[in-house]
Amino acid sequence: MAFYSRVSGSVGMITLQNPPVNALSAAVRQGIVDTMHRALSEPEVKSVVICGQNGKFCGGADIREFGATMAGPPLVPMVHLIEAASKPVVAAIEGIALGGGLELALSCHYRIAHSKARLGFPEVALGLLPGAGGTQRLPRLVGVPAALDLITTGRHVTAAEARQLGIVDEVTELNAVDAAVKFAQSVAGKSLDARRISTYPCPRPPDLDAIFERAMQQVRRSSRGAIAPGTCVQAVHAAVTLPYAKGMERERELFSVLFNSGQARALQYYFFAQRAVSRWSTANGARWDTSKPRPVRKAAVIGLGTMGRGITVSLAQAGFTVVAVETQEKQLSEAKQGVSGMLERGAKRRGVPLAHDKIKYSCSVQAVADADLVIEAVFEDMALKKTVFQQLSAICKPGALLCTNTSGLDIDELASQTQSPELVVGMHFFAPAHVMQLLEVVYGPRSSPEAVATAMQVGKKMGKVSVAVGNCRGFVGNRMLKQYLEQAFFLLEEGATPEQVDQVLEEFGFAMGVFKVSDLSGLDVGWKVRKADGLVSPASTGTSARIRGGSRYSPLGDLLCERGRFGQKTGKGWYQYDKPGGRVAKVDPWLHGFLEDYRAQHGLVARRIDHQEVLERCLYTLINEGFQILQDGIAAGPEDIDVIYVLGYGWPRHRGGPMFYASQVGLDKVVERLEHYQQIHPDVPGLQPSRLLRKLAAINNPAIHKWREVIQKPRSQL
Ligand code: 3HC
Ligand code: NAI
Repeated sequence: MAFYSRVSGSVGMITLQNPPVNALSAAVRQGIVDTMHRALSEPEVKSVVICGQNGKFCGGADIREFGATMAGPPLVPMVHLIEAASKPVVAAIEGIALGGGLELALSCHYRIAHSKARLGFPEVALGLLPGAGGTQRLPRLVGVPAALDLITTGRHVTAAEARQLGIVDEVTELNAVDAAVKFAQSVAGKSLDARRISTYPCPRPPDLDAIFERAMQQVRRSSRGAIAPGTCVQAVHAAVTLPYAKGMERERELFSVLFNSGQARALQYYFFAQRAVSRWSTANGARWDTSKPRPVRKAAVIGLGTMGRGITVSLAQAGFTVVAVETQEKQLSEAKQGVSGMLERGAKRRGVPLAHDKIKYSCSVQAVADADLVIEAVFEDMALKKTVFQQLSAICKPGALLCTNTSGLDIDELASQTQSPELVVGMHFFAPAHVMQLLEVVYGPRSSPEAVATAMQVGKKMGKVSVAVGNCRGFVGNRMLKQYLEQAFFLLEEGATPEQVDQVLEEFGFAMGVFKVSDLSGLDVGWKVRKADGLVSPASTGTSARIRGGSRYSPLGDLLCERGRFGQKTGKGWYQYDKPGGRVAKVDPWLHGFLEDYRAQHGLVARRIDHQEVLERCLYTLINEGFQILQDGIAAGPEDIDVIYVLGYGWPRHRGGPMFYASQVGLDKVVERLEHYQQIHPDVPGLQPSRLLRKLAAINNPAIHKWREVIQKPRSQL
């Protein structure tokens, strides 16, 4: 709702009340309309201030209402009522003015912001455009290029930048509401003719066509198939080419297209999913709201290779004191240089404070003795990690949390090397660890709720989105990825090429296709794991080159590694590069010949594989593994999996994540297609639909937010 009061006799104050962000719910909109009428009708009131309760102006339209039938007064007439008011209306912007909140502020005649406030139009991230006049008012106020930038990227601006752009009239370090009241008194009775933004002509720079052309190219390049950014450009175009009223009509039409799109539903689902993962629970009943994190001030990192360096940087930037350990002098000195460079680049490019003084380097593992939390990031080798955990258990102070960054080794086996297995968890970062937002916090059967809560909180302080997952081979992300990779290899055996598979996946919206990613991360990484698992040499299993443990296996990746083709680092992998370390993937005729020879050698006849088959086999097996993960209690809900895939594996955000995507395709269809492929490939277990998937499909494809009810029933009933 909105609360009305009178300040200093002549100022009508409208306070938005809808915690936590004063979103414009039906009740708030009704409250604003009612209180505006009241302020306008009271003769003693000479000016009006609109502010938000608890130091937050307004977080925009209430996203929770988007799925329901519209109730209460619509936003557009509400902002017109404010702009048309005969008394000056001043927005007092504290905290945030986002989306509809900024549109509300732009309908006011003046805007006073607190210096710490952030403003912006983040609608594009929800698959929308500013639909209450934002696309028509902002270009009139700040010009076309700045409006295009803010509306198509959704970025927040500081109060200082907003002042520079002309969005706000004054910035104050003091109380913004008090400043707005004073300001409102000073403008009482003044003409408002020049204060109504909708009446401003929209600036028309001479190179208008070129500006819009560039904006369209830019959004096409970065949007990976998302429709909202391009639609935002069209709406701003209407502001320049049409009179205000017609522009508003166009904004409404375009908004309606987006609002009703599957992409908007996916992005809004994702918005809530990303927040839901912080309310974690584990398979044995520990929960976010009943588990208290331990205080962590001093952290330590063991092993300063690719991952250890990124983790050190990220911890230091988050304000932790860090002890960084490599046992060899040479590696330590290289790591020091590497970390310093990363810190300096972070400071230069992103304005992150330099944190050199937070880090102490050492060649001795003894240096971590008084750390509250240690993250091990040595080679992916169980024997080595076990030794490190035995050392840590002997050295570290009682109560210290011992964490591993392993990509998929057994957390419980490592915990069993220590005196306090309840204090062992996985903190699985993604490369580059100081940039990637995702952290899988992996709990073993013996990890205490407190240990999980601590790792989740440390992750949050590091600016990561932390997702709690159970202990199994590959955890959530890499376990699902295995199925996806496997299908991609099988498709090559059956006649596809890496570029064909990648093209289909990139058209779907992945940042990079599976083979390009594999070249980037290094083919040798998976090869080492397969070797350790005894999969690489068929002789050891005594079976065919393409069968392991009775199931189909493709040795293609192994064969490339045997030829020294590790991907970008060696200049050759699934593609060729101009030099080792080169980044531009080029089709490699050698690889085509190699695939032909391979097929001939194994009696495989290449067939034409269409787009749909590539997509279904790669995605549905990945999704199927996701259902298996839910069934096994490794992830608590579909949101956990979707956040992991969007933030860690380049799944297109506008498709919500693999589990949301499955819910949109229809679970019965996913089952039907998996069964179809399973009949053709009976030796591929990943094509066998999981029991949970079948069960959900059989109960009529319930909405994704209802899945947990089915999952939470005792697993024996599944
Ligand atoms: N509607 C409903 N709920 C909202 C909301 C909104 N606009 N914005 C935030 N919330 C909820 C969150 O879901 C969360 O709920 P939870 O505690 O139950 O999980 C709670 O508010 C707090 O949010 P955060 O955890 O994100 O808190 P932060 O302090 O980290 O961030 C924020 C605050 C910057 C406002 C961030 O929540 C945000 O970016 N919100 C979305 C803002 C937005 O996109 N506004 C545009 C809406 S669309 C629109 O206005 C259309 C119009 O043009 C017609
Ligand atoms: P890396 O090979 O780049 O670095 C490992 C470092 O550990 C080396 O610098 C080595 O000198 C050091 N080291 C080895 N034994 C040590 C010891 N006893 N004490 C101190 N330092 C020691 O490896 P990378 O890629 O950083 O991987 C580390 C861990 O992170 C592995 O478990 C890996 O599976 C995991 N991981 C790797 C990801 C990646 O993309 N590289 C992603 C996520 C996890």
